[in-house]
Amino acid sequence: MAALLSPERHRAAAILPFLRTLGDDGASARKRPTASSSSSSKSGKKKKLAITLALFVSSTLLMLAILKTRTLLYGRILKLHHRPAPRITVPNAPYATHRHVHWGSVTASLSDTTKTAAASVALLNFSPAEVKRWRKLKLTGGSSSVRAVRLQPVDTSVVTWATLYPEWIDERTNSTSTCPTLPDPEHQGGQRFDLVAVNLPCENTSSSTRDVARLHLQLAAAKLAVEVHSSQVLVVSDCTPLPNLFPCKHLLRRRGHASLYATRPAYLRRRVRLPVGSCDLAVRLPTTDQHHDEPKRRWEAYATVLHSSDAYVCGAIALAQSIRQQSGTSRDLVALVDYSSVGPEQRAGLAAAGWQVRAMERIRNPRAVPGSYNEWNYSKLRLWQQLTDYRRVVFVDADQLVLRSIDFLFDAPEVSATANCRTLFNSGVMVLEPCNCTFDMLIARVDDVRSYNGGDQGFLNEVFTWWHRLPRAVNVLKYYHHQQDGHNAASPPSEEEKPYVMHYLGIKPWLCFRDYDCNWNVPWLQRFASDEAHARWWAVHDRIQPKELATRFCALEARQREALESDRRQAEMANASDMHWNRTITDPRKLSPFTMPLAPTA
Ligand SMILES: *[C@@H]1O[C@H](CO)[C@@H](O)[C@H](O)[C@H]1NC(C)=O
Ligand SMILES: *[C@@H]1O[C@H](CO)[C@@H](O)[C@H](O)[C@H]1NC(C)=O
Ligand SMILES: *[C@@H]1O[C@H](CO)[C@@H](O)[C@H](O)[C@H]1NC(C)=O
Ligand SMILES: *[C@@H]1O[C@H](CO)[C@@H](O)[C@H](O)[C@H]1NC(C)=O
Ligand SMILES: *[C@@H]1O[C@H](CO)[C@@H](O)[C@H](O)[C@H]1NC(C)=O
Ligand SMILES: *[C@@H]1O[C@H](CO)[C@@H](O)[C@H](O)[C@H]1NC(C)=O
Repeated sequence: MAALLSPERHRAAAILPFLRTLGDDGASARKRPTASSSSSSKSGKKKKLAITLALFVSSTLLMLAILKTRTLLYGRILKLHHRPAPRITVPNAPYATHRHVHWGSVTASLSDTTKTAAASVALLNFSPAEVKRWRKLKLTGGSSSVRAVRLQPVDTSVVTWATLYPEWIDERTNSTSTCPTLPDPEHQGGQRFDLVAVNLPCENTSSSTRDVARLHLQLAAAKLAVEVHSSQVLVVSDCTPLPNLFPCKHLLRRRGHASLYATRPAYLRRRVRLPVGSCDLAVRLPTTDQHHDEPKRRWEAYATVLHSSDAYVCGAIALAQSIRQQSGTSRDLVALVDYSSVGPEQRAGLAAAGWQVRAMERIRNPRAVPGSYNEWNYSKLRLWQQLTDYRRVVFVDADQLVLRSIDFLFDAPEVSATANCRTLFNSGVMVLEPCNCTFDMLIARVDDVRSYNGGDQGFLNEVFTWWHRLPRAVNVLKYYHHQQDGHNAASPPSEEEKPYVMHYLGIKPWLCFRDYDCNWNVPWLQRFASDEAHARWWAVHDRIQPKELATRFCALEARQREALESDRRQAEMANASDMHWNRTITDPRKLSPFTMPLAPTA
């Protein structure tokens, strides 16, 4: 399941771009890097031929010159010596795009400050013909103020999305990053530009969301904007730029395929310093729990969402308790609750447990079967809209427990999460930055984005393809240590790997008897079974204050008890070798008055 990348592959990926000699910035550079290397070797042969020929002719001329005057000879030799070494040129349009620039959109998108006759522009990935066109645009200060910036491309057949987003990394090593290198744009030597414009190819919309060339160009544009102190960045593309590098809140104007963004240097600087993908951690586990003396940070909050039933109320109460008691944080705790599915009594319980309860209108997944378990999972998107009074939010699913302080997660940017499978993140713990225009952007895509698992996780992974990795200890899936084929399956976690957050997959602990994890009794859920994790949850439950919260909201309904007994009998009949089905149940909830059949019949 977990694909481990060999270090050799990483190294090859990092070195390869530098080994390649590239052609001129002319026609050959407009092609894909793989094609350009073969065509440049052809043109190299021609060059060699020309140079040999030239040398032959000039040496003959020199011979003749020797016969004439000695002074002339010395002069020529000196001149030959002083000729600069031939430069290895890097193309200024490294990633081909066949789409024509619509110049009307470009000029319409530019703001008045960049439309002045003196505006200077740094261009990334525009063809020589397009660069010429930029120079002719009336809004710039002529050819002297337009610079085509060179960028060394990466070989996208070697540096793929999977090399940037490995499923598993060794988090314990403190060595230098194993991320592939995406070269920086050519250094501008302190020169300033008013505008950075980047031409982003977007030929194939189905593959464009995870396209290394597009990522490289956007990161290069951000770096360039910071370096040359440009106040704005113009993105020319049929695709939307990365929402967490060029966020909609920085968008000044969009005309056709041209989008003008304000440069926020501090914002961009932080982001371009992040690992290029999930090949390295965005934040590391703290060496000490250093939260207690911290002043209250009003612009940060923990949040959870309850969207379909009150089955998760007990879980959310235990979660609040765990955040407050085990982590000692001073951040606000906010629960977004759909009032049509969670009643007033339950909401009062949530408030008593420490949550600030906010009403939320749930969001339907248009592709879900009505009545299905994931019909309302898109409600999580409300986090971006209803928490705009916070700059940063750590979202935690209601079926999780916080076992140690995770306040350090507030140092991670949007979207940071733990790795799930393939190149995807798990949306159970997420760092996000609420913003109404981000919410609008998400809602606008609900109909066209296909979620691989029908839930919010699949949806968010298609929008935030450029996500940042959190240590896996902050979202330990309960079955983690039972994985047969995964890493660390056999070895217990080291001290620094002890779970910070436990994610209770399968049947939730509050829906089992406290004596053992009832996932044992159902064959297809056994991979989620762990008596140790189960006991951990109940230890938090037992500390819930005030006590009535636990007795009232974590009680078992009669039908749940019946389901538990039915599962137990199935396991007994199957003679399940784990023998949990034969344990004596001491949980008082087994005998709660509601269980007693009112009128036992024959
Ligand atoms: C890892 O590196 C950080 C600084 O980069 C340092 O503070 C920390 O002590 C190192 N940890 C280990 C285990 O070497
Ligand atoms: C577009 O990308 C998809 C997915 O990578 C690929 O299967 C398809 O062949 C591409 N289409 C074109 C026209 O390149
Ligand atoms: C975002 O939208 C919500 C709901 O429409 C509104 O209550 C909130 O004030 C908005 N936030 C900002 C910062 O405009
Ligand atoms: C949808 O939400 C429910 C309830 O929160 C959860 O149990 C389920 O795993 C989610 N499904 C997906 C596919 O995200
Ligand atoms: C149940 O399993 C145990 C050992 O796992 C075995 O001794 C016993 O005979 C089995 N009983 C039945 C009814 O199969
Ligand atoms: C079930 O547990 C009881 C004691 O609680 C024990 O006497 C009995 O042998 C157990 N049954 C099996 C099949 O192990």
